[in-house]
Amino acid sequence: MLVTKNDPVNNGAAPVAERFSLYSAPAPLQAVTFADDVRLGLSAAQKRLPPKYFYDQLGSALFEAICDLPEYYLTRAESEILDRHADEMLAALDEPVELVELGSGSGRKTRLLIEAALRRQESLDYHPVDISSSALIAASTALVGAFPALRVCAYASDYFDVLAARRVRTERRTLTLFLGSNIGNYDPAHAGELLRAVARAFSPGDALLLGTDLKKDPSVLELAYNDPTGVTAAFDKNLLGRINRELGGTFDLREFEHVAEYDAERGVVQSFLVAQRAQVVEIEGLGLTVPFADGERIHTESSYKFSEDDVATVAAEAGFAVARRWTDERERFAVSLLVAR
Ligand code: AVJ
Repeated sequence: MLVTKNDPVNNGAAPVAERFSLYSAPAPLQAVTFADDVRLGLSAAQKRLPPKYFYDQLGSALFEAICDLPEYYLTRAESEILDRHADEMLAALDEPVELVELGSGSGRKTRLLIEAALRRQESLDYHPVDISSSALIAASTALVGAFPALRVCAYASDYFDVLAARRVRTERRTLTLFLGSNIGNYDPAHAGELLRAVARAFSPGDALLLGTDLKKDPSVLELAYNDPTGVTAAFDKNLLGRINRELGGTFDLREFEHVAEYDAERGVVQSFLVAQRAQVVEIEGLGLTVPFADGERIHTESSYKFSEDDVATVAAEAGFAVARRWTDERERFAVSLLVAR
């Protein structure tokens, strides 16, 4: 589409293509690849696969479907909070901002914050970081199309890689978004490390908006991670499908069952794929043979849940203090504004 200066829709803003740029680390430069992680995880005594590999094109679509499930309340609860309080969140920074987002996904919730920012300032730079390049491109192009005053500089990458490389450069006061309880995928030590990496990129006055799912009734949590429709099971099994497609694996997805268990003591929902009988899987691309015993599990995801104190503790470890905290009406989910101490 050709956009001219007096295009009434575009309002004199730069054309869409000039307001969107994408950076992705070429495979040979990535510190650790999918192949490396699959080899390592499936050779371990306790088999495991990192959850960041859920999000290929099919996996990202399945995750979007999870967000629509009646049992998966997290997305709706967080949207309710942003819907009500986005203006307050932006007002707390009291200055024109730039947004950085770790794990932007479809960008549906981010829209609420972009709209709030553009009510306070004339233009906005947004830097989404996401492991899924398909989700990143779809969300970014939709956003620059919807907001003529928005520039998007997107990074298709693992969070740690981008933060460690200090690739994200901002000029204004920066509000970093880490929403959706994405932090819940990291065990407490790594969550602290990730927040410290965010803190290192901060200038004085910058802030972090952290979304966390709250500890609650185990039956509610287990249903959220093992829905009766079977979408979460499909999302989990897609990891094996991805190994088949990209690495030449011979997994029979029907031979594995998705299980989700809440460990109330540690405050974590753990997801597993359980072999339904003894079997041997070949992964040609890795030259690897993987034997499974009957009932043997692959750990695929940890989803940590947080009390108010848990958030304060992980924040403090990384040098942050909780300046403000909002919850949904039913207190299932919290969004906290973290500032450097
Ligand atoms: C995107 C990591 C926040 O742990 O709740 C949803 C992913 N896994 N259902 C979560 C997920 C199973 C989700 N996060």
